[in-house]
Amino acid sequence: MMSRVFRHATKAAEWLRNADKLEVICISGGSRRFFQTSSCQQQHTPLPTHMNAWQINGYGGNEVFELNKTRVPVMTQADQVLVKVHAASINPVDVAMRGGYGKTILPKLKQISGQSVFPATLGRDFSGVVVKTGKGVRNFKVGDEVWGITSFQHQGSHAEYTLVSTKEITNKPTTVNHTHAAAVPFVALTTWAAIVTFGGLTEKNALGKRVLVHAGSGGIGSFAIQLLRVWGAEIVTTCSTDAVGLVKSLGADYIVDYKTQDVRQELKNIGEFDMVLDTLGGAAQDYSMQLLKKWKNASYVTVVSPLLKDTDQYGLLPGLASAAVSMTTNTFKGLASGQLYHWAFCIPNSNALRKIGSLIDQQHIRPVIDQVFPFHEVPQAFEKMEGGGARGKTVIEVILCETDRQDENDDTSLDN
Ligand SMILES: NC(=O)c1ccc[n+]([C@@H]2O[C@H](COP(=O)([O-])OP(=O)(O)OC[C@H]3O[C@@H](n4cnc5c(N)ncnc54)[C@H](OP(=O)(O)O)[C@@H]3O)[C@@H](O)[C@H]2O)c1
Repeated sequence: MMSRVFRHATKAAEWLRNADKLEVICISGGSRRFFQTSSCQQQHTPLPTHMNAWQINGYGGNEVFELNKTRVPVMTQADQVLVKVHAASINPVDVAMRGGYGKTILPKLKQISGQSVFPATLGRDFSGVVVKTGKGVRNFKVGDEVWGITSFQHQGSHAEYTLVSTKEITNKPTTVNHTHAAAVPFVALTTWAAIVTFGGLTEKNALGKRVLVHAGSGGIGSFAIQLLRVWGAEIVTTCSTDAVGLVKSLGADYIVDYKTQDVRQELKNIGEFDMVLDTLGGAAQDYSMQLLKKWKNASYVTVVSPLLKDTDQYGLLPGLASAAVSMTTNTFKGLASGQLYHWAFCIPNSNALRKIGSLIDQQHIRPVIDQVFPFHEVPQAFEKMEGGGARGKTVIEVILCETDRQDENDDTSLDN
């Protein structure tokens, strides 16, 4: 909490005019004390009509980015909440969508929702403060600190404000700042969908289950390892040589260095798995399916489905057909050995997000941040993502509060 003591009324009045929110006023020894909770809270500040947003007006590389002055999103539904974005993360899907990934299906979803395809704001998750609530919103109020995901049919979070449904957010964990919080929602909800919703592993049945998490050093891998460790699973992961220390610190039991070891042979030596979480696809899918236990309800879950890639490549109907053939073939291949095969996608899930927030507040899970970029360097942040070698998440700071800055200084242990 920030506090200021004024001896002169004129100075206090001047500060008051500039202050965003005052929480407590008390008299002490003849002086008035004004306590300001956060220099970032927007409660009494009129909302601007326009905001800065990184947008694309076509598909391509970084050259398609524009930093536009655009309208602050206007509410169209009673359950919506307007959030002032403090931080947002970049996910591989943002880089892919900038290049046209999903260009066959996603514009159709946007059109159904009455949204135009371009200009498009990317960014799938965020942490920020509620600045406006729809008429039907009861569980959030202006000033609440929230985190969450944005849906593909709406504008994203690489902007100063983002409009979301209450189903897509919860209160942000209180022990981490916005920058750290923003690193979590998209990868966490994708992991949750993969492991729990599709894979059927939960905190009640995960104890002792052997799980292979491919690419433990990435956004999804670094979160999945921590969640599975809390639930008592035995975790095997693959990563590069220089990421071995990181994944070990997150809780992996066995680590296979794909740069220096024969991954297939090493994984085979470890034994069969109750679940494989595939974040790589391609060749990894072919050999990993053979590593599952047979006739023990073991699950293979991939977050790299061919659905959008195939529809982009072959057109809507042939692409859907091609993806369906791939799904059916793999499902039957698995069923022949009593194994389950699933595609998983990030799904809004406020119960899961709440549980994840509380695991962070209990310090069982920590956001893993690779690099933080200021808002004006979004293209540089994309360039960094494209370079690969992620060690956790890339985050964009849209605004930096005094409290966040203080946390950053105090809390370097969360970064790598
Ligand atoms: N279906 C969905 O809803 C959904 C949601 C989120 C993500 N995804 C997809 O899931 C994938 C992973 O996402 P992410 O956010 O975790 O990506 P990320 O943060 O970019 O991490 C990728 C990681 O993979 C490592 N890696 C690369 N090749 C590897 C290999 N052969 N063996 C082991 N590790 C390897 C990389 O490090 P090194 O190169 O240094 O090894 C990096 O740490 C992406 O394809 C993404 O599009 C899908």
